[in-house]
Amino acid sequence: MEKKQVGITETVLRDAHQSLIATRMPIEDMLPILEQLDNVGFYSLECWGGATFDACLRFLKEDPWERLRILRKKCKNTKLQMLFRGQNMLGYRHYADDVVEYFVQKSAANGIDIIRVFDALNDSENLRTAVKAAKKEKIHAQIAISYTTGPVFDDKYYIEYAKKIEDMGADSICIKDMAALLTPYRTFELVKKLKNTVNLPIQLHTHYTSGLASMCILKGIEAGVSMVDTAMSPLALGTSHTPTEAVIAALKDTEYDTGLDLSALSKIRDYFMKIRQKYIETGILDTRLLATDTKALIYQVPGGMLSNLLSQLKQAGKEEKFKEVLQEVPKVREDAGYPPLVTPTSQIVGTQAVYNVISGERYKICTNEFKGLVAGKYGNTPVKILEEFQKKIIGDETPVTVRPADLLKPELDGLRQEISEWMEQEEDVLSYAQFPKVAMEFFEERRNKKYSINKKALDLENKIHPI
Ligand code: CO
Repeated sequence: MEKKQVGITETVLRDAHQSLIATRMPIEDMLPILEQLDNVGFYSLECWGGATFDACLRFLKEDPWERLRILRKKCKNTKLQMLFRGQNMLGYRHYADDVVEYFVQKSAANGIDIIRVFDALNDSENLRTAVKAAKKEKIHAQIAISYTTGPVFDDKYYIEYAKKIEDMGADSICIKDMAALLTPYRTFELVKKLKNTVNLPIQLHTHYTSGLASMCILKGIEAGVSMVDTAMSPLALGTSHTPTEAVIAALKDTEYDTGLDLSALSKIRDYFMKIRQKYIETGILDTRLLATDTKALIYQVPGGMLSNLLSQLKQAGKEEKFKEVLQEVPKVREDAGYPPLVTPTSQIVGTQAVYNVISGERYKICTNEFKGLVAGKYGNTPVKILEEFQKKIIGDETPVTVRPADLLKPELDGLRQEISEWMEQEEDVLSYAQFPKVAMEFFEERRNKKYSINKKALDLENKIHPI
């Protein structure tokens, strides 16, 4: 029997809690279990990037760089993986190349082994700088295809994109099905076609939202997927991922056997069950998100976006409009040139849909980000936006037709000057670059509390309790 051992990327430290509890897991909840996670033998631990950076600074008052260093220190055997939004980095706009290069360099220096880079619009031009920087740092550069459905998203579309990814020098490809739109047989077909097209390992990332994820994973593996993303069962299912334990059990004693020991995971499961219970009791985890909902296949809304829309509407006291907003999303997406819905386009389209519904009139109020998307400031949309619609939204402004970052001058020196008196580590400039206001507040708090990075790390060390 030919061995095709499947690698498991455990997402409990990043995407699982991003999808279920709006990325609110603090390092304190991770620390007691890190060494055990590290000993399992996962292909990688997805633990950084995505929305964790923003959530650390904005809500958890944690230095994201310090979090990464702690993760690295505690997980010596497993590759640490992050999610990176190409030219958007972990923020919501395009950054100049010098900032992107520096971010990748610092991510590698602080412990990242695998960087998964994607662009919300699948505009390959927006990946170039990040991938080049990752190659320079000699870390694994994975490029993710933002999977979606719609008029242009046929096999030809994905095959052409995969070829571009290979030509760009990526080490692997990820099919990133953030909105849980894949079905098992579609997965099989797509993976087969991609395997026939490129010579790269393929990883599958799909969410459980519509209840199909574990079937997609199995069919994907049969078609040649080498690595899959899963989440420890207490933070799996719903808008999160397929349970890690289930995948390991399903593949046991087959040619795809992960080689991982199921019993070694039971202590980790027990730990996260307690954490899950705490999140439910404190209201951080809305158990509605754990339900299977095939409406995702209609609305094409990724898990993280569902929970964000719900909390946006709650804040506005308009919770009853949830369904209406979900129905508005596909319309806004069509008008905006069918962007796949993933950060930042999911927020841009989602927020615009909220405005359209709450104001009672489509595009009466437009966010600047939505105007930017329609003006081409995020890159080329998969389908060209109708000129008439573009004019309605951006007026006489000239649309952008080149790679957006080509219009940006180097930013790093200016940013450094702006925050020179607040800097306690070189990485601070990157926190500030992405979230200027939030990072400033964080820096001020850090100073006022005489919070030193090392002291915080020490405090955390002392909080570790054996379980
Ligand atoms: Co995801």
